[in-house]
Amino acid sequence: MIDLRSDTVTKPSKGMLAAMMQAEVGDDIYGEDPTVNQLQDKVASLLGKEAALFVPSGTMGNQICLNVHAQPGDEVICESDAHIFHFESGALAKLSGIQVHQIPGSAGMMSPEHIEKAVRPSAHYYPRTSIIALENTHNMAGGTILPIEEVIPIADFARNRSLRMHLDGARLWNASAASGIGLHEYARHFDSLSVCFSKGLGAPIGSMIAGSYDFIAEALRTRKQFGGAMRQAGYLAAAAIYAIDHNFPRLQEDHVNARIFAEIIAESPALTVDLNSVMTNIVMFYTKQGLDAYQLAEQLKEEGVLLHAMSTDALRVVTHLDVSQEEVTQAAQITVNLLQS
Ligand SMILES: Cc1ncc(COP(=O)(O)O)c(C=O)c1O
Repeated sequence: MIDLRSDTVTKPSKGMLAAMMQAEVGDDIYGEDPTVNQLQDKVASLLGKEAALFVPSGTMGNQICLNVHAQPGDEVICESDAHIFHFESGALAKLSGIQVHQIPGSAGMMSPEHIEKAVRPSAHYYPRTSIIALENTHNMAGGTILPIEEVIPIADFARNRSLRMHLDGARLWNASAASGIGLHEYARHFDSLSVCFSKGLGAPIGSMIAGSYDFIAEALRTRKQFGGAMRQAGYLAAAAIYAIDHNFPRLQEDHVNARIFAEIIAESPALTVDLNSVMTNIVMFYTKQGLDAYQLAEQLKEEGVLLHAMSTDALRVVTHLDVSQEEVTQAAQITVNLLQS
């Protein structure tokens, strides 16, 4: 099987497992796990933030950050296809009583004008707008990179209006590797952000949130309330350290492979793909002429290719470190050939 459903399907390499086995550990709820502490310091410094906190998943990372920034009844402004809105099981409503104000974006980016309009006036009968949340890269837009020059005016606006800026940076590594813009250059425009080790970097488990000392002190309490505080988590932190050191520099290979896939399937008269949207390791493509995407995904499975149908006419492919360029090329050719037959 060539598994292109997600970059979350990777398994730890031998080198990563060896690093995990050798990890020094302690009780992290007492702050005594040296490997967790090392990872937190390392990521805080990479992101240019005062402090960072290791959490089990990207979802928990986002949910903790948003919970700390808002009160029940408050509103978070986000793009209408944001992960926090569609794919976190309604956690904002359930765990924090926060409601979402969605704004349609272009390639995952909301315009400052739309955001400005969405911020509620201060009358008591409106919900209070507390947070603007962005996602970089943007998953549903096809791994698009949010242009930093468009993020800056939004951050300036948020500061002037005392709104918090949160970044779902599950794949910020990819944005930075592809654009050449440093992680800290992106991070400096946000009060909080989450990054994941279990996606393109290939670690089995784990994410990090980062922000000011005060923010992380509060997040520590919320992580415990959400059940995300761990004990000898150093084994997982060792995998994340290995992932940053060995797999961050190779993300470009995934980006090249995604482009190869997109260029091959662009030749098929039965599919459309916007090659300009293929900026990192995700390819969103669409069926034409009423061809059912779910059915196509099932047929491809029989041919040995796994990918995700996202709706009746949309499919997603994600490249990662457990698929080679040959396999990605083969998967694209199988797709095109199937549609020819
Ligand atoms: C953009 C984005 N944010 C957050 C998450 C959540 O990460 P996790 O699956 O670790 O909860 C994902 C997962 O795919 C994602 O794509």
